Parts: sequence; C-alpha cells; structure tokens
Amino acid sequence: MSKPRILTGDTPTGKLHLGHYVGSVENRVAMQDAYDCYFIIANKHAFTTRADKPGEIRQSVIDIATDYLACGIDPAKSTMFIQSEVPAIDELTFFFAILIPFNRVMRNPTLTQEIKDKDLGDKYPFGFPMYAVGQCADILAFRPELVPVGEDQIPHLELTREVARKFNQLYCGVNSKTDDKDNIKAGGLFPIIAPKLGRIKRLVGIGPPGADGNLLKMSKSLNNAIFLSDTAAEVEKKIKGMYTDPNRLRVTDPGETDPAKNPLWAFHETFNTDTAWIDDHREQYKNGKVGDVVIKRKLMDVINELIEPIRTKRKHFEDRPDDVIDALRVGTKKANVIAEETLALTKKAMKQDYFSRELKIER
Ligand code: TRP
Repeated sequence: MSKPRILTGDTPTGKLHLGHYVGSVENRVAMQDAYDCYFIIANKHAFTTRADKPGEIRQSVIDIATDYLACGIDPAKSTMFIQSEVPAIDELTFFFAILIPFNRVMRNPTLTQEIKDKDLGDKYPFGFPMYAVGQCADILAFRPELVPVGEDQIPHLELTREVARKFNQLYCGVNSKTDDKDNIKAGGLFPIIAPKLGRIKRLVGIGPPGADGNLLKMSKSLNNAIFLSDTAAEVEKKIKGMYTDPNRLRVTDPGETDPAKNPLWAFHETFNTDTAWIDDHREQYKNGKVGDVVIKRKLMDVINELIEPIRTKRKHFEDRPDDVIDALRVGTKKANVIAEETLALTKKAMKQDYFSRELKIER
C-alpha cells in the first residue's frame, strides 16, 4: 500500500530559526516514515517581495535545503525540491487563477497582514497577490492528503480548498453538495486538503513587545530570531540579551510578577522537557525568589542541547555542497513526475489534452 502524501514548504528569505523548527520542521521529520513527504522551497514567492535580491534568494535556497538535511530530513525518504524547476506548478497557477475571483484573493488575511507588516502600501507587484494562487498550485500539483503548516498559512489553505472544490465541480462533474471528504470518490481530480498544525502555533521572538504591548512572533525580519545555524556562543549571547518583563523589578509585591509577560517562560514551555523544573522555578519566580539570570542560564543549556546535533550535521553538509545540490536535483526530478501527471490530468479534465510531453531535468 502506498503512503499518504503530504506537501509543505518554505519561502527562502533566510535561514531557518527555532520558530520554523517547532512550528513545522520537527513535525515534518516525525512524519517522514508514515507519509510520502514533499517539501517545496518556494523561490518564486521570495521574488514577490525581494525581486532586487536574486543572489540572496539563491543563497537562501541552499541554506534552507542545508537546514532541512541538518534537521534530519532524509532525502532517501522525503522529496525536497525547488519550485521554479517544476514548470507544471506555473501552468496550474494560470488555470487556478481563473477559478477564483480577484477580490476573493485580495481579501486573504495573510496577504493583507503581509502588506501591512512589510509596508508594501499599494506599490506591490501584480505577482504579490498572485503568489497566493501559486500556493494553491504548489499544493494541488501533488494532490496531497495533508498540508502541515503554521497558523499563518491557514488562509492560503482555505483558498486551496476553494479552488479544488470549484475545479472538481466545473470539470469533473462533482456535485456542489458533495462532502469535502467525498470529492475524489465522486470523480473529482483534487482532494480537499486538510491543514495540520505543528506542536507550537506561534513562537515569540527574543525581542521586546510590539507597539500594542504584545510579544512579537519570531521572525528574521524582526531581528528577534535564534537560528538553527547559530553557534553555541551566539545562542548564549542572544538569550543573555533577551527581553524580559521590566516591571518585574518594579513591583513591590513579588506575587504580582507575571510569567506571561516574560517570553523566557514561553521558551521554557516550548523547549524544556523538564516540566517539574519549570513549575518549580515559575513558582519561585512569581514570589521573587529567583531572577532572570538563572532562568536564562537553563534556557541556554536547553536550546544548545537541541541545536547541537543540528549544528554538527549542518557543518557536515556545509562542507559538502554537492550533496545538497544532489538532494535537490533528485527531489526536483521526483517532484516533476507527479506535477506533470497532475497537469496532464488537469488538462484532460479541461478538454485541453492535445499532445503529450516529457520533461527532463539534467545535471
Ligand atoms: N507561504 C509559505 C511560507 O511562507 C511557503 C509555501 C509556499 C508553502 N508554497 C507552499 C507552504 C505550499 C505550504 C504549502 O511559509
């Protein structure tokens, strides 16, 4: 029996950090045996906001592939590939763009949030909102059962579900009242995919809260990330300088000290497996019996223990760039087999299957 397929991936805008790790990478590594896994490095999406930085995007593609391998994604089990080397994805994007109203795409909350966060105003290129439709194609090209992602990707997956339903109804004779789970049985080409969230939905960063007083999400662009590629000394330095609740020192009644205002506790809850230690120290902290330094020290140990094996493996692959490229080439070939098959089925359903073709990836 063949394993159920999953697809997920990352936009190459830097190296992977701890937020990526607990939000999805850890999940992916665990799913490798039970699922046929496809991991897309979405380099075209990176161009929608960084068209002037082709060199950085190229470097980031390699960095992310290296991070995947370092985290234990095994190219003998899983398929990692480069989006721009799978042309069927682009071809599907056009067909899918026809199925979804323009205003529906523009109402996608992830896009509107990104426009705000990255201060894109109304200057963003046409290709920026198009990436949301492109992401439907990234996913549906592989007709996966599950899509493991972080919470911020849910609106994209909802769009993907809408596109799949519409296609199945328009071109495969699926009735509009058919249950999502029965779409394939009813003759539909595309499954109505389900998202799978990671253990931690949103990891906070190491920096101060945002303007609204809430702790910000860990993100490279907010300069508050601990990277999987950071050295032990860098990790220690970042944790040492980490933001903690400043009111802690001002409260007269130590009982008022609130661990929820201090990201150190969010980190311990995410990474420290010694729950007894956390409970004990949280209690002491509330009562003003223990300071930030002790909590930070322990966190350094916990984080470095997690990253150390990743660091060692990363070094191994950094010294063997050809192995990284090989893994990407093999993966991209495999990805093209499925994506080409999906495209052929798509065209057939749309009665546009005039010729057959073959795609070859070389060297
Ligand atoms: N948009 C995703 C991110 O920035 C990356 C991505 C591109 C993706 N295509 C995908 C994720 C398909 C899941 C499935 O993190």
